[in-house]
Amino acid sequence: MCGIVGYVGQELCAPILVDGLRRLEYRGYDSAGLAVHSSGKIEVRRAVGKLRNLEKALDERPLPGNVGIGHTRWATHGRPSETNAHPHVAGPIAVVHNGIIENHLELRRRLKEAGCTIVSDTDTELVAHLVHAEVERGKDLESAVRAALRELEGAYAIAVLSSKEPDRIVIAKQSSPLVIGLGEDATHCASDIPALLPYTRSMLFLEDGEMAVIEQGGAVVTTLDGKAVEREPRHIDWSPVMAEKAGYKHFMLKEIFEQPRAIEDTLRGRLDRANADIHGHEVGLSEEDAKGIERVLLLACGTSHHAALAGRYYLEALAKVPTSVEIASEFRGRDAVVRPGDLVVAVSQSGETLDTLVAAKEAKAKGAKVLSIVNVIDSAIPRMSDATFYTHAGPEIGVASTKCFSTQLANLLMLAIWLGRRRGTLDAARAGELVEGLAHLPHQMKDVLSGTRQLVANLARRYVEARDVLFLGRGLSFPIALEGALKLKEISYVHAEGYAAGEMKHGPIALIDNKVPVIVLLPKDSHHERSLSNLQEAKAREAIVIGIATEGDEAAREVSDDLVEIPAVAEELAPFLTVLPLQLYSYYVADFKGTDVDQPRNLAKTVTVE
Ligand code: F6R
Repeated sequence: MCGIVGYVGQELCAPILVDGLRRLEYRGYDSAGLAVHSSGKIEVRRAVGKLRNLEKALDERPLPGNVGIGHTRWATHGRPSETNAHPHVAGPIAVVHNGIIENHLELRRRLKEAGCTIVSDTDTELVAHLVHAEVERGKDLESAVRAALRELEGAYAIAVLSSKEPDRIVIAKQSSPLVIGLGEDATHCASDIPALLPYTRSMLFLEDGEMAVIEQGGAVVTTLDGKAVEREPRHIDWSPVMAEKAGYKHFMLKEIFEQPRAIEDTLRGRLDRANADIHGHEVGLSEEDAKGIERVLLLACGTSHHAALAGRYYLEALAKVPTSVEIASEFRGRDAVVRPGDLVVAVSQSGETLDTLVAAKEAKAKGAKVLSIVNVIDSAIPRMSDATFYTHAGPEIGVASTKCFSTQLANLLMLAIWLGRRRGTLDAARAGELVEGLAHLPHQMKDVLSGTRQLVANLARRYVEARDVLFLGRGLSFPIALEGALKLKEISYVHAEGYAAGEMKHGPIALIDNKVPVIVLLPKDSHHERSLSNLQEAKAREAIVIGIATEGDEAAREVSDDLVEIPAVAEELAPFLTVLPLQLYSYYVADFKGTDVDQPRNLAKTVTVE
């Protein structure tokens, strides 16, 4: 899970490549490097750690040249070190790579037997040697890459330079993302759209099993077998500013505050307010299909898994369809029972999470229809799905997912309403209430964000030293409790647990003392009374209790040490509001602790490894 970039044009390429890498740093930040054609040879600069270390190396030893490739790494094969940093070089060849070559052991053995000196622990260096060997046999760069790729098993997006062909980059893709950016006087490539936005909106998405030769005047795409591929570029209307911090201290904070906009964009054109319904053509199911679904199986990882858990409540309550939720990594390879009448819904921000991708493929192979809920256009999961119901959150750069979580909730709720209407399980009055409720959400979210920001920041300041924090919720608030705990863990490194509130007395209550903040989600819903009792149980054990409750809930106010209020909304809509103070809480705790909020340790935004 790394980021790669490439540039062929007339400008000095090093600053453009570094700028692209900065926008991709969320994909990994163990080391970074560039390779540039410079006075008849390829010159490389690499540095361990964040991009600023590479910039320092470039300040000390600049890299002139107009054609080059770059890489930001999240270590998979070999620890983070300068030797393991990309680009990797063999003879006249330099390679950057995102992915994992599965047959690396066998390739390493073969190359060593053939007399190759392999200096790094990476699988990528092996690719450089394979291409070099083909060039030695007299092939041009394109044919050499094509031949070398035949030897590879696994996932890759690669960009390759040869000092013998200084006007081009050869790129190829299998399972890892790769986008070509077509500029006026230059051609770029990158692992993801934000790296290209400052330079062009005209983008060509490579498919698996395709490669391209990139030159200043454009790109020629072929299949790995050499067949020409005709594909129109797509216009991407994300603005570069959307991919930048827009004045916020961190991307995460910006993305938390972007949620009303993200929800608005995600709902746009999908709410059928006149008919108390959802325009559901994107879900790719006929009315008959909708009636015939026997089970929904939701597959996802991490935060997307928490959204899926909320989705189960929606689908069971509104569409009365039996629904199970699986952590994708636990589903795959288990030989789980999947039947042709099942609808599999794969939920993923990136659309590239390997576990979710493979799990969805396994389910599809067993005859299920796959619908995906994904944020990144044309990523791997949508490409293998029968249909994709995109979230329109825009690029999410902070490693901790926020706006994508709430837009996933929106799509899952819309899916449940659409199915419920077709299956006759949701009447027009109730559907109308929910559709109207959704339409009002953006301004309610805005109010909650602005109304609670200071209060939550104060709470975070007060409890910043707490070593453990518990999050409790029932019903739809349970996945939100899990999400609150995950957010706190991943960015502030504070131990946090999310529990079903009713489960507390079966064990976790032993953790409670007067040093443990317990955050209880208790919006006015069908679980309210019981959640209130759980709050009282925590209070009786001297916990510090922070309630997240509906405005005017005097009982919650009485027992909470601190209370954060949200407006009264339908039960199904409360998660969109209760999650906001939890996101803010984790953000401020992390910020006060001074952690790297946008790039927390050991994590990466897109997890394309198992
Ligand atoms: C946590 C987070 C991760 C992702 C998970 C799945 O804030 O972002 O837990 O949710 O890695 O990623 P996607 O949604 O891209 O499949």
